[in-house]
Amino acid sequence: MSVLSLAGVEHAYLGRSVLKAVDLTVGAQEIVALVGPSGCGKSTLAHVAAGLLEPKSGRIERRYRRHAMIFQDPSLLPWATAAQNIAFGLRLSRLPRRQRADCVAEAAARAELEPGDLAKYPVELSGGMRQRVAIARALAVRPDFIYFDEPFTALDVALRRRMQDVAISNCADAGLSGLFITHDLHEAARIAHRVMVLDTYGAGILGDRSLPGRPGSRSDTQVQEWVAAALSRDPLFRHIHDVDERQIA
Ligand SMILES: Nc1ncnc2c1ncn2[C@@H]1O[C@H](COP(=O)(O)OP(=O)(O)OP(=O)(O)O)[C@@H](O)[C@H]1O
Ligand SMILES: [Mg+2]
Repeated sequence: MSVLSLAGVEHAYLGRSVLKAVDLTVGAQEIVALVGPSGCGKSTLAHVAAGLLEPKSGRIERRYRRHAMIFQDPSLLPWATAAQNIAFGLRLSRLPRRQRADCVAEAAARAELEPGDLAKYPVELSGGMRQRVAIARALAVRPDFIYFDEPFTALDVALRRRMQDVAISNCADAGLSGLFITHDLHEAARIAHRVMVLDTYGAGILGDRSLPGRPGSRSDTQVQEWVAAALSRDPLFRHIHDVDERQIA
């Protein structure tokens, strides 16, 4: 049973077609990684799937209860403390203040923030800690589906790995489903149950591959071997690094 399904989705910005004939499903408790070259429409697809953008045509069914989104830029309110940022999504809930504080503390712990960080303002936090606040803000609303749009791309390698582990364990512990956009096939192979490739011009999903084992259970060697095989032998991944200006820099 899928919790998200898109059928024949098409989108255009000011008449310029960006997505065409996109069919995609995410199953219950499944994390699907979405890869594809820069500019191919991955973020647009996530926005359309989440209902932030109205598609030109196509059908979208969301069977999850509540979603949250985590972007590359943590997008924190600069004048609010970490705790207030985490509580941001709860402002419309009718939770009593005490319960809201409990939600914030629990989400912060799940994102591995120190209690002492909660009173700090974004400017006082490192890049990794800001991204933890963004993760905690997403978890605080107790979502059952998370859209991740390259959340860890700006972090250095070691921190990125740590944050991937935080995402993996949180998704597994709470039985979350999600769509995880990334440029990094290693990241996809660590975090997802299945990897999907979007066409270079947004003209549909080219195909998908299921990964062996569960996210979090794969060794570094297994991940590296899977990626090496995908890039050298699987035609599905032939174009994923095309027109990717970040690889050239
Ligand atoms: N708000 C917008 N208005 C007009 N065109 C846009 C808008 N947002 C994105 N586009 C264009 O739509 C296309 C797809 O953009 P999108 O951001 O979805 O790609 P992406 O795959 O997420 O890229 P990246 O990997 O660099 O994040 C690009 O050509 C982009 O320039
Ligand atoms: Mg994008």
